[in-house]
Amino acid sequence: MNILIVGGSGGIGAALVDRFLSHRLTNTIYATYLTGQKITQSPKVKWHQVDITSEKDIRDLADNIPQLDVLINAIGILHDECNHPEKTINNFDPDFFQKNISINTTASILLAKYFCRPLKSSSISHFVALSARVGSIEDNKIGGWISYRCSKAALNMAIKTISLEWQFKNPNCCALAFHPGTTDTNFSKPYQKNVPENKLFKPEYVADQLIQLIENTTPSDTGKFYSFDGSEISW
Ligand SMILES: NC(=O)c1ccc[n+]([C@@H]2O[C@H](COP(=O)([O-])OP(=O)(O)OC[C@H]3O[C@@H](n4cnc5c(N)ncnc54)[C@H](OP(=O)(O)O)[C@@H]3O)[C@@H](O)[C@H]2O)c1
Repeated sequence: MNILIVGGSGGIGAALVDRFLSHRLTNTIYATYLTGQKITQSPKVKWHQVDITSEKDIRDLADNIPQLDVLINAIGILHDECNHPEKTINNFDPDFFQKNISINTTASILLAKYFCRPLKSSSISHFVALSARVGSIEDNKIGGWISYRCSKAALNMAIKTISLEWQFKNPNCCALAFHPGTTDTNFSKPYQKNVPENKLFKPEYVADQLIQLIENTTPSDTGKFYSFDGSEISW
């Protein structure tokens, strides 16, 4: 199995790299980082520095990876040095919104554009984007976090759209959106205060749940949005 973890330097991405490393079917893991400090070194892991907002970086990466069984995009932002997710629309900043869209949405569409060919397989392949339950329109009961929510809702639409197109172009590929649950990483650190201890997951647990989902899904499941516990989330 050849695997690409986009954002292998992140909390969940790094756990995915580690877990796939000990998977009996793993041949090569390709993984990306941007600024990542603590990245796993192993002869099986090939690291590439990629800025996911650069179409050229994504194209160059695809040019270096001839065949893939699994692609997981584990990149995402919720906050940056200057911005927290909005409590109210009064905090809305168009530049921060664009940054959310660029990293949380556009990146997966560009990955689909350049990795359709490496993911073509005579057996099953998987294209998975880490989404979030807050991107479900149906599930939105409390509002807030408008930039992040919109970027993940748009990502969900992108995954659905990619899955429909690939039913013809890449019929053995299963395209999924995955909600990891609140996971203890830098991403969620500032917002963990009100999360009950048993609802704050370790990245290793989330990685295991996602790998299990990949093992249990086939192209007939393409275009679905799954939670960490294997249940389906409405779009
Ligand atoms: N953690 C949670 O509670 C939670 C909940 C729901 C959904 N999610 C989703 O799960 C995914 C992973 O989250 P996480 O908790 O693992 O986040 P994280 O620990 O903050 O990791 C973020 C990753 O994104 C990369 N990244 C950010 N901007 C980039 C850019 N412009 N180009 C390339 N790489 C970039 C980082 O690379 P470097 O570190 O190398 O710079 C890092 O690998 C995200 O999509 C997030 O929305 C997380």
